Amino acid sequence: MVDLWVATAPLDVAPCLSSADVQRAIAFVYDVDRERWTRSRSIVRRILAARYVSTCPEQIGFAAHPGGKPYVEGSTLEFNLSHSRDAVALAVSDSGPVGVDIEWSNPETDVTELTDTVFHPDEMRFWRRSGASHAIFYRLWCAKEAAAKAEGTGFVVDPKLFVTSRWDHDHCFVRGTRQLWRATIAVENEYTLCVATPACADAAIRRFSIAEQLGCVREFREVAS
Ligand SMILES: CC(C)(COP(=O)(O)OP(=O)(O)OC[C@H]1O[C@@H](n2cnc3c(N)ncnc32)[C@H](O)[C@@H]1OP(=O)(O)O)[C@@H](O)C(=O)NCCC(=O)NCCS
Repeated sequence: MVDLWVATAPLDVAPCLSSADVQRAIAFVYDVDRERWTRSRSIVRRILAARYVSTCPEQIGFAAHPGGKPYVEGSTLEFNLSHSRDAVALAVSDSGPVGVDIEWSNPETDVTELTDTVFHPDEMRFWRRSGASHAIFYRLWCAKEAAAKAEGTGFVVDPKLFVTSRWDHDHCFVRGTRQLWRATIAVENEYTLCVATPACADAAIRRFSIAEQLGCVREFREVAS
């Protein structure tokens, strides 16, 4: 089972940071970046403490695997975070590694320029056949990035090494550098969202609202199985 927590509008979340977080927040050059990071970090701490880890939110210890993927110290919990502008997505899994990506689908981005750099030739053909649209670009991109984050490398490795295939409306598979991932995609407001889970696990995804959890009201909706 994978729990997917999403907010696509700015939330009024009381800051909840460790002393190490405060140092990281101070290092941001722009206030807007500092505020967004503080908000997303506080959301992660509050949700993990409320639902998954028996620790006060400020006391959850985060460390990172060699590739940079964060984990909770002293816990086997698998989680991953993504933020883009005002949106935050947090995936928590008991079905193996998980990766999540949320992207604001900026209508002004010249995606055609990016495709040469990031798409495998098969993806390029698929993208062209599908009308070469912004929407399809972001679906492909989010699926690749979610898989790269599930593997824990991010795009320190070449994005072309994460190859999507077998697309249907809201799913595809992504062949990574280590294994095959199943990507589940949703589009919400101006954001494209994707969760990657091991293809062999066939995990169900439950979708929750961050806003409702922080207001202490529980929302539950099964989006995929
Ligand atoms: C991991 C990576 C993909 C994150 O990308 P991003 O779009 O900046 O950010 P997201 O909001 O989706 O994810 C950030 C979160 O992912 C998590 N994360 C960081 N490194 C990670 C890794 N190696 N694997 C999985 N998750 C990781 C962190 O929780 C981070 O949140 P934090 O900074 O608040 O702690 C980034 O490190 C990366 O490799 N960027 C490459 C830059 C790029 O776009 N290159 C394009 C080449 S053409």
